[in-house]
Amino acid sequence: MCGIFGYIGEKEALPYILEGLKKLEYRGYDSSGVAVLKNGKVTCVKKEGKIKNLEKALEKKDLSGKIGIGHTRWATHGRPSDENSHPHADCKGEIFVVHNGIIENYLMLRRALAEKGHKFHSTTDTEVLAHLIEEHLKGNLEEAVRGALREVEGSYAIAVICSKYPDQIVAARKASPLVIGIEENGTFISSDIPALLKYTSKVIYLKDEEIATVKRKKGHICTLSGKPVKRKPVFISWDPESAEKGGYSHFMLKEIHEQPKAIRDTLKGRIRPDKAEIHFDEMKFSADDFKKINRVVFTACGTSWHAGLVGEYLFEQIAKVMTEVEYAAEFRYRDPVMDDKTLVIAISQSGETADTLAAIEEAKEKGAKVLSICNVVGSSIARESDAVVYTYAGPEIGVASTKAFTTQLTVIYLLALLMGQVKGTISKADIKQRISELLELPQKMESLLEREKDVEEIASRYYECSNALYLGRGKGFPIALEGALKLKEVSYIHAEGYPAAEMKHGPIALIDKNMPVVVLALQGRRYEKILGNIEEVKARGGIVIAVANEGDDDIWEKADEVIFIPRTSEIISTLLAIVPLQLFAYYIAVKRGCHIDQPRNLAKSVTVE
Ligand code: G6P
Repeated sequence: MCGIFGYIGEKEALPYILEGLKKLEYRGYDSSGVAVLKNGKVTCVKKEGKIKNLEKALEKKDLSGKIGIGHTRWATHGRPSDENSHPHADCKGEIFVVHNGIIENYLMLRRALAEKGHKFHSTTDTEVLAHLIEEHLKGNLEEAVRGALREVEGSYAIAVICSKYPDQIVAARKASPLVIGIEENGTFISSDIPALLKYTSKVIYLKDEEIATVKRKKGHICTLSGKPVKRKPVFISWDPESAEKGGYSHFMLKEIHEQPKAIRDTLKGRIRPDKAEIHFDEMKFSADDFKKINRVVFTACGTSWHAGLVGEYLFEQIAKVMTEVEYAAEFRYRDPVMDDKTLVIAISQSGETADTLAAIEEAKEKGAKVLSICNVVGSSIARESDAVVYTYAGPEIGVASTKAFTTQLTVIYLLALLMGQVKGTISKADIKQRISELLELPQKMESLLEREKDVEEIASRYYECSNALYLGRGKGFPIALEGALKLKEVSYIHAEGYPAAEMKHGPIALIDKNMPVVVLALQGRRYEKILGNIEEVKARGGIVIAVANEGDDDIWEKADEVIFIPRTSEIISTLLAIVPLQLFAYYIAVKRGCHIDQPRNLAKSVTVE
């Protein structure tokens, strides 16, 4: 939700900033802008729309200088326009600010500042920051930023430059992410790690209510109250190549193909097939902590919430523990009942989703234990939780989540087995059997991906539809929801996921020859029932695209199209079944000419409420 990037060092700042913003564009692409300082003057260029519009505007300008900041925006306060683009400046055009977050009391502040004579040029919440800093500036930029932030309510990650202070960028955060990247000849600030990987793997995470004065070489960090903070840099192990497209036309397609590797990496070192045991080295919970849990609550947003829905089935079936799933935004305000025997499992790819973070705070306050499943090491959610288990999917850049989802499911399955193991609800032999199936998953997924062309062909027959229905039963239902979400996100086709049996209570009225109905017809306990649902669709003249296990010859007679996945256990089939649905959504979006990696109105990481 908005990306910010800054550089101060020995090299020209602009190329770094533009490159950084391109990497952060997935966080928002309503507008972008840069401000560079040279010879006591800041030059700022900003443009509505994608970064290519900004690059065009920059062709006519000289923005040389070795210190600068940039921003890519996902609009919250103030519609997308050139005026509302960041950086925002004070009245004198000396102080420039980029911001990710929401200043909740901005109207009150704006009124007070206007009364003092400040002139505003945008309708954003951010612009008040520039004017507030101007009010507080009395010889020390860091002090001025600190003074301004003390008056502000809400969330922020900010970077500030001022023409009078050419040797520093002042950065601060509260409930929005910010990292400092350290390289031999300069220092970077960024909203996330992938944007830094090309330059450095040495980073310092800024924590909430901390302020950093970033210099070419030595800078410092303090709390908002002025207490110095000493923090050692950490080294990020992600490969810089992983943040590039690597020959694929889109990050989404690359990330779909990366799933077998991501799952392998996520499994690595965590299971001992010979001993039928599961370990998470980084998880701070002991077997005793797990033993006393009598209720699990998954909380998350978007795709991660769908992973939680699968988790509900797995935890109840395997560990026999009462399990619920809550949208984080609902959970945080619902005054939920819980105690120290409740385990809240927060799922988040980015580890920065504002609602999930707030749900964690609520759960901790109520005395529950919080375990998070995150993909970004050291992210806010990982830090705020009592314990964390990482998915090793590598950076996920495409806005539509793919490899994060399947690695989340992998971790959830392992956690359910671990809890079953601790609680004694599953035998060693059963764990052993399931572990060996799980170890075969990456290879099965590879063979499934080899049939990509079949899915592309099917997509070419349906890309003009306006609506689609996705049906599943049991664990297939969350997969239907996720399949429908993928289609909505990247192709803008209206799609709904439904429990197949519920179809007759409403959606059946929509069925006609123009609406494809994607049915998860996987082998297992509910297979016969799902065949019944297919008959119901066919009887109303509907088109059925079935996802079925190999060797299921009967399905040919009933469905119009069949996408086969390898024959395996019910749970592994669930993990496999999402792959063709990701590909289906991807190819439909390609044929419709959509912006796949940056769908309209969406952002990868929603760090505001
Ligand atoms: C946004 C993204 C989704 C993602 C959701 C939750 O809406 O567009 O792809 O599933 O946030 O994000 P998280 O990082 O918490 O998993």
